[in-house]
Amino acid sequence: MIAETIPSGNATPTHPIGVFDSGVGGLSVLKALRAELPHEDFVYVADSGYAPYGERDEAFVIARSRAIVSHLLQNDPPAIKALVIACNTATAAAIHLLRQEHPGLPIIGVEPALKPAAAASRTKRIGVLATRGTLASQKFKALLASLEGHAEFICQPCDGLADAIERDDESKIRALCAYYIRATGQFGLNSGEIDTLVLGCTHYPFASDHIRTLLPADMPIIDNGEPVARQTRRVLGEHTASNHVGQITLRTTGDPTLLAQAARRWVGLDVPVNTLSI
Ligand code: DGL
Repeated sequence: MIAETIPSGNATPTHPIGVFDSGVGGLSVLKALRAELPHEDFVYVADSGYAPYGERDEAFVIARSRAIVSHLLQNDPPAIKALVIACNTATAAAIHLLRQEHPGLPIIGVEPALKPAAAASRTKRIGVLATRGTLASQKFKALLASLEGHAEFICQPCDGLADAIERDDESKIRALCAYYIRATGQFGLNSGEIDTLVLGCTHYPFASDHIRTLLPADMPIIDNGEPVARQTRRVLGEHTASNHVGQITLRTTGDPTLLAQAARRWVGLDVPVNTLSI
């Protein structure tokens, strides 16, 4: 993530921060953002009508990301002062294009937390669970290349897992977590074993209770919610709102009941959800 300059456009400290994901997964980032920036307003868009992104081609993810950003910039409320792409797959596919197309808008993305994992690992073997799209992206390949020689990353695409989390299908979540953890390899503290797990998809923290039962006790499981929230605060600088109780607006292109339930369960948010057609 790279520090941004704040635009000189007409966004003010009171404008909301836009956040989007393919669905409910970005709520794991929104939770960290609220904790870090309690005075900010957020507009969260779940593109659940078009989820999951992780097994779609790049052009599809780029088109959806563009549609959501246009919505966030044009509709009521009038503008956003920053955008958080709370989706590893959309960040990998589209962040460079969105930055070119909206040079005045600070854009913060998420990427699998390989660097912190390499620093934390003793065996230097790290498991990475992510979507097929994220793992196949140029951006992820460049990140892996930048860490060559620091650690070995065992990358496991988890087809179907984000979708099962999206649908809140407990038995499928359980089965897929068991399958993918087994497929990743042997976890443990001995040499040659994987001693750190990276959750490289913002949906997966919502399965971490299941994942934890499949791993040795106290195995570090690393996701990016808190670092992204801290980075957003740094990027906003003096444009941070104060003396204001942050309001959250939730919008979805899918089933509003699922987003409302997920927001209540995972973020403790009880707010109405608006349906979007974009
Ligand atoms: N939550 C998203 C991510 O971080 C995408 C999951 C999906 O839609 O496949 O990659």
